[in-house]
Amino acid sequence: MLELDECRGGTEASDALVLFGVTGNLARKKIFPALYALAKRGVLDVPVVGVAASQWNSAQLRQRAKDSIAKSGGIDDQPALSQLLSRLHYVSGDYNDPETFQALKKVLGDARRPAYYLAIPTALFATVIKGIAAAGLADHARVILEKPFGRDLASARALNRVARSVFPENSIFRIDHYLAKEAIMNILYFRFANSFLEPIWNRNYVASIQITLSENFGIEDRGAFYETTGCLRDVVQNHLFQIVALLAMEPPTYREFGAVHDATATVLKAMRPLKAEDLLRGQYAGYRKEPGVAKQSDVETFCALRLFIDSWRWEGVPWYLRSGKYLAETIAEVIVQLKPPPQRLFADAAPLSGSANYLRFRLSPNSAVALAARVKRAGQEFIGDQHELYLLDERPGEEGPYERLLGDAMVGKGALFTREDSVEAAWAVVAPVLKDHQRVISYSRHSWGPKQADALIKADGHWHNPIHGQA
Ligand code: BG6
Repeated sequence: MLELDECRGGTEASDALVLFGVTGNLARKKIFPALYALAKRGVLDVPVVGVAASQWNSAQLRQRAKDSIAKSGGIDDQPALSQLLSRLHYVSGDYNDPETFQALKKVLGDARRPAYYLAIPTALFATVIKGIAAAGLADHARVILEKPFGRDLASARALNRVARSVFPENSIFRIDHYLAKEAIMNILYFRFANSFLEPIWNRNYVASIQITLSENFGIEDRGAFYETTGCLRDVVQNHLFQIVALLAMEPPTYREFGAVHDATATVLKAMRPLKAEDLLRGQYAGYRKEPGVAKQSDVETFCALRLFIDSWRWEGVPWYLRSGKYLAETIAEVIVQLKPPPQRLFADAAPLSGSANYLRFRLSPNSAVALAARVKRAGQEFIGDQHELYLLDERPGEEGPYERLLGDAMVGKGALFTREDSVEAAWAVVAPVLKDHQRVISYSRHSWGPKQADALIKADGHWHNPIHGQA
C-alpha cells in the first residue's frame, strides 16, 4: 500500500504553532479558516502565536481571526471558535531585530517542539530562519515554508542552504497547496488504481495535453507581492508544474510516498528549459492602476506556454499550460488529447481530426473525470456525436488543502510537501524566460487572455476553454 502516513522529522506532534506574517493576506484568506477547521475536528490543541511587524495586540489578532473565519465560510461551531481564539497570541516586531525572537521565546514558554510557518515574502525567509536559530528556538522544531520558494534558481538554492543549515531536511515542509487538493491527489490515484490508462498514456497515443488554471478576479490587494512575482512565479513554476509532474510521472516503484517524490522529481528534471518563443505573457487591462503596481509595469498576469518533457514516454508530446487573473472563469481543467483514429472511415471524421477522444480532469471548482468518445447517431448514415463518459467525483465536506497541510506538518507527515530537488528543477525550467521574454500584451478583463496565445497552440488545435456550467 502506498504509505501516505510517511513521517518526517520524528513522529512527535509539534507543541506550538507560530505564524509569521499573521497579519497578511494568506493568513486572512486561508490560514485562519484552516485553523478553525482543525479546531472543529478537535485536533488543534496547542498555542498559536502570530508574529508580524504591525503594532497589534492579541485582542486585535483574535478579532482578525474571527472576521476572516466569518467571511470564509461562517461560524457554525462557537465552542471551537472560542477555543481557537483563546489559544491565539500576538508578538509584534521586526524580523531583523533579535528582540522579536526573544519576545517570541517568552510567549512560547514551555513549548519544546514548535512548528514555524513562514507565510511571508520569500525574500524574508532567510532572515526569519536565522533569527529563529540565533534565539535558540530551532531545536526539535519544524519549519513550514509558503510558496513561491525563492524567486529563481539561485535564490531557491541559497534558501535551501540556509534552511538546511538550521533544520534537517525532514523538518522542512515546503508548501504547494495544490498537492493537497482532492482533485489533484486523484490524478495520482486515478492513474495508478486503474489499468486501462497505462497502455495509452504515452507519446504513441497522446497528441497533446492542455492545462488551464484561470481566475475571474484580479490581484486583489496583493499589488506589492504580485509586482515581485507575476504569473510565472506565482502559479506556473509550482502549481501547474506539480500537476504536470503527477500526470507525466512513471509509476512509483515502491510503496512509500518517497517513491512519488522521486517519480515527480524525475519529470521536473526531464522538462526542457523554456525558450522565449514557448511563452506568451499578458497583462489585464487596468493592472497598472492597481494599488502597489508600477505605472509602467511589465509584470505578467497571464501566461501561456508550451512545454516538452524529454523522456522515453513523452518525447515530442507538447504540454500547453495557461493561467491568468481576470479571465472569463474561475476554473481549472486538464485535457489529455488522444490521437485521432489512423483511418478516416466515416463521413464526419475529417473535420474532427484529433478531437474525438480526450480525457478531461476537472480540478476546480468541482472534481470530475470525463472520457470523450464518439457514438453513432440513430439513422441510416454512419455519422455520430461526441459524448462524455463521465465520473462525478464530488466529495462534500472534504478537508481543505491548508487544513490538510497544516495538520500534516504539525505531526511530521511530509507526503504532500515538495522536495528540495523538485523545487530547484522547476526553477531550472523557467530560468531562461524569467528575463528573456516579450513585453506583456494587454488583454480585456473577463476574456481568455491575449489572442496571440492562440498562435502558440495552433499546430495542435486550439485552447479548450473550460465551461463553468459543465460538470
Ligand atoms: C496561490 C496564488 O498560490 O494560489 C494565488 O498565490 C492564486 O495568486 C491561488 O489565486 C489559487 O489557489 P486556489 O486554491 O484558490 O486555486
